[in-house]
Amino acid sequence: MDDNKKFKDESMSNKNSNIENVEMSRYKPLNIEDFYITDDNFEGKVIGVIGSKGGVGTTFITSHLAVICSKNDIANDFESEAILVDLNLENGDIKTIFNQTDHAKDIGDLTPILNELSNISVENVVEKTNNGLSIIFSTNNLEKAKEFKEGNINHIVKILKKLYKYVFLDIPNNLNLCSAKAGINVSDELILITIPHLLSVIRCNHLLEQINSLKNGAITHLVVNRSDSFSAISLKHIEQFLKVPIFKTIPEDLTLGIMFEQKGTILSNRTDLSLIRSMGDLARKILNFKNS
Ligand SMILES: Nc1ncnc2c1ncn2[C@@H]1O[C@H](COP(=O)(O)OP(=O)(O)OP(=O)(O)O)[C@@H](O)[C@H]1O
Ligand SMILES: [Mg+2]
Repeated sequence: MDDNKKFKDESMSNKNSNIENVEMSRYKPLNIEDFYITDDNFEGKVIGVIGSKGGVGTTFITSHLAVICSKNDIANDFESEAILVDLNLENGDIKTIFNQTDHAKDIGDLTPILNELSNISVENVVEKTNNGLSIIFSTNNLEKAKEFKEGNINHIVKILKKLYKYVFLDIPNNLNLCSAKAGINVSDELILITIPHLLSVIRCNHLLEQINSLKNGAITHLVVNRSDSFSAISLKHIEQFLKVPIFKTIPEDLTLGIMFEQKGTILSNRTDLSLIRSMGDLARKILNFKNS
């Protein structure tokens, strides 16, 4: 049965139940709208993050941004309605970063109902960390991952946009994957990560061209991760080569070790680290970014 219809039917049976003697006007039948934000005008912001190359820190940065935006005490101007989605549909790293077991709900649970997605079915695969961040993990089942089409991902993100203020996407850098194309197309802001190393910067150039051809005139924000690491290429060289200004740099921090020991909570007390502070600055800059 259609979820909306189910709720409507339930609310009708409430109406006809044994509470006739009670002043009915004081009771509002339960509606799906009572559980979800259904303001037609509400649109959350989708922030996609993609790396120029494997290992440049895409998952690391996306996860930090999402955790920061779900914690009022770090970024007190943000509200805690953030969701993080792993678009590396098969065996993405977010599950590992947040220490989730294989029993966690994941995107693969949607495969039997991909043609009838609703607010409720999508919310059913969302896990919550103990700091309030919502996450949709990837599946470890390749067959399930293969079921997804670009349109399914678009649909899921469209639903999430209506439910969450900030939707963070960890986008794979293989543009042959449907989830990569969808992720790029649905993002309101796209963060492209590179490190200051030759191969990464050259790949970045290719990716920028591909992104621009996929998404006409897309605004892509270039972020240089490990910006202070030893490199033969300066930040100025990178800007000159890519003809794109650097939106933000993120320093390298080799002291961190395992960061997400407790499902994302540990960032909250490490504001002493320049890495965490710069992630906060990036979050603020990207969420307040207005294309004028
Ligand atoms: N600024 C940084 N300082 C210290 N360590 C970092 C930094 N950025 C990333 N790392 C580390 O680098 C490693 C690779 O990062 P991550 O997994 O996020 O890369 P990725 O681009 O998502 O890789 P993949 O292509 O496999 O998805 C991780 O161990 C992460 O903790
Ligand atoms: Mg990754």
